Amino acid sequence: MTATSPATTLVHPASPAGPWWRDAVVYQVYPRSFADGDGDGIGDLPGATTRLGHLAELGVDAVWVSPFYPSPQHDAGYDVADYRDVDPMFGVLADADAFVAEAHRHGLRVFVDLVPNHTSSEHAWFRAALAAGPRSAERDRYLFRDGRGPAGAQPPNNWRSTFGGPAWTRVTEPDGTPGQWYLHLFDETQPDLDWTNPQVRAEFEAVLRFWLDRGVDGFRIDVAHGMVKAPGLPDLPEASDDTDPRHHQGPMWDQDGVHEIYRSWRAVLDSYDGDRAMVAEAWVTPLSRLARYVRPDEVHQSFNFAFLTSRWDAAELRTVVTESLTAMDTVGATTTWVLSNHDVVRHATRLGMADPGAFGSGIGADDPQPDVELGLRRARAATLLMLGLPGSAYLYQGEELGLPEHTTLDDTERQDPVWERTGHTQKGRDGCRVPLPWEADAPAYGFSPTGASWLTQPAVFAERALDRQRGVAGSTYELYRAALARRRELAVGSGSLAWVEDLCGATSMAYLNRDLLVVANLGGEPVQVPDGYRVILRSDTADASGGSEVPADTTVWAVPLT
Ligand code: NOJ
Repeated sequence: MTATSPATTLVHPASPAGPWWRDAVVYQVYPRSFADGDGDGIGDLPGATTRLGHLAELGVDAVWVSPFYPSPQHDAGYDVADYRDVDPMFGVLADADAFVAEAHRHGLRVFVDLVPNHTSSEHAWFRAALAAGPRSAERDRYLFRDGRGPAGAQPPNNWRSTFGGPAWTRVTEPDGTPGQWYLHLFDETQPDLDWTNPQVRAEFEAVLRFWLDRGVDGFRIDVAHGMVKAPGLPDLPEASDDTDPRHHQGPMWDQDGVHEIYRSWRAVLDSYDGDRAMVAEAWVTPLSRLARYVRPDEVHQSFNFAFLTSRWDAAELRTVVTESLTAMDTVGATTTWVLSNHDVVRHATRLGMADPGAFGSGIGADDPQPDVELGLRRARAATLLMLGLPGSAYLYQGEELGLPEHTTLDDTERQDPVWERTGHTQKGRDGCRVPLPWEADAPAYGFSPTGASWLTQPAVFAERALDRQRGVAGSTYELYRAALARRRELAVGSGSLAWVEDLCGATSMAYLNRDLLVVANLGGEPVQVPDGYRVILRSDTADASGGSEVPADTTVWAVPLT
């Protein structure tokens, strides 16, 4: 029997073969929690380099490495003190070169993280700005302003930090008097740069070249929607301590001026060989605004946070997938998909919460706890749903092991500035940053040779360790590996998307990508894979031949019988 032609709605046609990044699967390495080479309990570049074989075996195309630059680590390295070196905690510059070389030897491309919205307060420029005093050229690289009110004692405007608390900090001038204020959209140790200053622009182009010359394949751009602020830094209609990045709106976000920066960066990347690329971390809505970042002469890709933040709901996911593809198609860009990263509750936990829409602010022992089994079941289904989609996908380290969030981390261990800055009302992001388990029976589950770990690993990490899953049919690791292999074989990334109407309902969704049929049941009555199809992969059991029924919280992949 051959596959019948179900009624479909085409959203996105297959694309001709393009540069590698258009359909790449990129794996995020969060270096402090990936692999610890020197045994101090914090991951490092030499440690990460020894584990690159795992990523090649998993079957990803590229690695994005979160910041490893010199930093006082007030925001886990997103507070950069020197953009051209490596923090001793992570190694030396030669270790970065060795990481890139070894990744390339494994056939993996490398993105490094660029943090252009702010520097660390320990960056030479900021120290110089403090020393030079008001109205100096040194201060003009940042957003220093006089305060309001008597003696300038009030902040220059009512903006709040996205980590909680005020977005302005007052400095003490070199003569000891209370002085100007500087803007920081994040922690007070992360002063915002003034992107109207040509020195700032020139410096970051030079930083791009520094890393491109060392052979990196591109950049992940931090806070890509925040660098340019509305002229005059006007007050918000209402100041609020909302730390939810989904609500980033106002004079500090998504200003038109950012696009000029990306055009100049694109020209820099295009002047190099090897299809170098950039991916923007831009919390921008609606998707039509996000699409402006990935116009042909700007950034190559942007993370799809609309997908990440969608609830486990067939109608909502269908809308997000349709709108994402449609919006990116209008500018000829590739769509990306992502479920987890180092800033959000891991999807294996998020999807096990009573309210799976609550994603951002961390979970503690005194909060409602997830249903761990359900979370993993849904996470596996969500992953197969995602990896069948055309475009590019971003994976976060440990999701291939089905790792949950650490939801009972002792509060005394918390390091995310969000915890302090919100007066302990938000737990922050430490729970998704716990060091990886590689070997169940080794110290620190194989993360560190000494057993040290900068955050305590939960006991469940033993059963999720890589060596407990490798070669075990039906394990989450083998599910990812099989999905990535099939994805490549079936040219899914450059493929198409057509909804299969008969299988789309209140609790189910199904699409065709070329010949691949993906059927997802998001929690309703069982759905049947139509006649004429053969199931090749399923999220609920190891055995793909296990029938054509798709039970609740399950996704299957099927191909036409030949
Ligand atoms: C986004 C990064 O992903 C996050 O970890 C960081 O705290 C902020 N940007 C500030 O750099």
